[in-house]
Amino acid sequence: MRYVARPASGPLRGRVLVPGDKSLSHRAVLFAAMAEGTSALTGVLDSADVRSTISAASSLGAEVEVTAAPDGTLDVTVTGWGAAGPVAPSAPIDCGNSGTTARLLLGVLAGWPITATLTGDESLSRRPMTRVTHPLETMGATFTTDGGTLPVTVHGGDLHPISYGSPVGSAQVKTAILLAGLRADGRTEVLEPAPSRDHTELLLPAFGVDVGIESERHAAWVDGPASLTAASVVVPRDPSSAAFFAVAASIVPGSEVVIPGVALNPTRTGFLRVLQRMGADAAVLHTATSGAEPVGTITVKASSLHGTVVRAEEVPSLVDEIPVLAVAAGLATGETRFEGVGELRVKESDRLAAIAEGLGALGVSVEAGEDTLVVRGLGKPGPAVLESLGDHRLAMTWAVAALAGSEPVEIERFEAVDVSYPAFADDLQRVLAGSDTAVE
Ligand code: S3P
Repeated sequence: MRYVARPASGPLRGRVLVPGDKSLSHRAVLFAAMAEGTSALTGVLDSADVRSTISAASSLGAEVEVTAAPDGTLDVTVTGWGAAGPVAPSAPIDCGNSGTTARLLLGVLAGWPITATLTGDESLSRRPMTRVTHPLETMGATFTTDGGTLPVTVHGGDLHPISYGSPVGSAQVKTAILLAGLRADGRTEVLEPAPSRDHTELLLPAFGVDVGIESERHAAWVDGPASLTAASVVVPRDPSSAAFFAVAASIVPGSEVVIPGVALNPTRTGFLRVLQRMGADAAVLHTATSGAEPVGTITVKASSLHGTVVRAEEVPSLVDEIPVLAVAAGLATGETRFEGVGELRVKESDRLAAIAEGLGALGVSVEAGEDTLVVRGLGKPGPAVLESLGDHRLAMTWAVAALAGSEPVEIERFEAVDVSYPAFADDLQRVLAGSDTAVE
């Protein structure tokens, strides 16, 4: 579908209820599937990625019941496989576009005596799985793969614990190894070069599993064998989805947007710290705690932005928000430099190349190196036809860029938003208060 995103004809105003957090939704469903007993999950994101995890859990033997809640999130009841373990699926498990589904499942399945094949769409089939299969192999699992990408067949079995120094700060890698470690006899530890999101460490205790952490070493560990027991989980709203509205409100004069109920875990809110450093008028109010996750309201008012430097250590805390932060940088005065952003090349698309191409087409001066991105602020983006490349975050990023432009921006394959935020266009429309953004 081609989406025509028009310049904002007025400010963005009001409240926006962004959907449930994607990372927490995947984990809540998977941990519930692994657990003994029946878990009740609410606030779960209803999107293609989370549906991939839900159907994977069912095909591995968990009983899953899904009901749509009035606010558009899902209530999910899961009776897990518990001590009996997952059943060998009767067909390959399709992980769709979801890297989190694929990588976490590899860790979940590594320690059980079954064989299962994971497949994915074109984008996911290009993404590296060896970052997970290599350490899991050293624990004792075996994998069949052609070139280290999906399809991957897992041959699970007896595992032994490892202490793994991950070359990348990746919560998917960390989580896969920790989940496999639950089936090994002894301590399985992961050390990271920079701290990645810690939802696994915070959520596993709710399912009865202790997780050790030592923040100075960026280390997390589990002592196996350990099993999960059912839990109730309330999933807060997704800060990565909120980021699109935070940037949109910053760049459209007169705007004021209020985003309540958002997960405010500091390992996810790097984008807010960067926006504030750029001069954004972004306020955060902690209002609640959901399990061990802080939750609150983000309020953003329009303001003039200036360039900044985003350091490599900050990148895991804002890795999914770099495309939309690059739009903010393109409208700021001066230069913004993103360092240590090579991971963007192996996301749902090569996001570094895509940002350079898309912002370039809008008239912004941008240079993408192997591991860096430099954006020089412009003023008004010009007209363009841009590709989502089937990447949900690029589709939404281009829609935000269009708001500050002088002419409409046409976005190809806009339906990619279904991966994390199916109602994005409607929600944007709602806060646009009279300006006109149309789906054709
Ligand atoms: C995720 C971790 C991040 C992020 C992805 C979701 C997760 O990936 O980009 O959208 O839920 O663990 P990496 O951990 O591989 O950087």
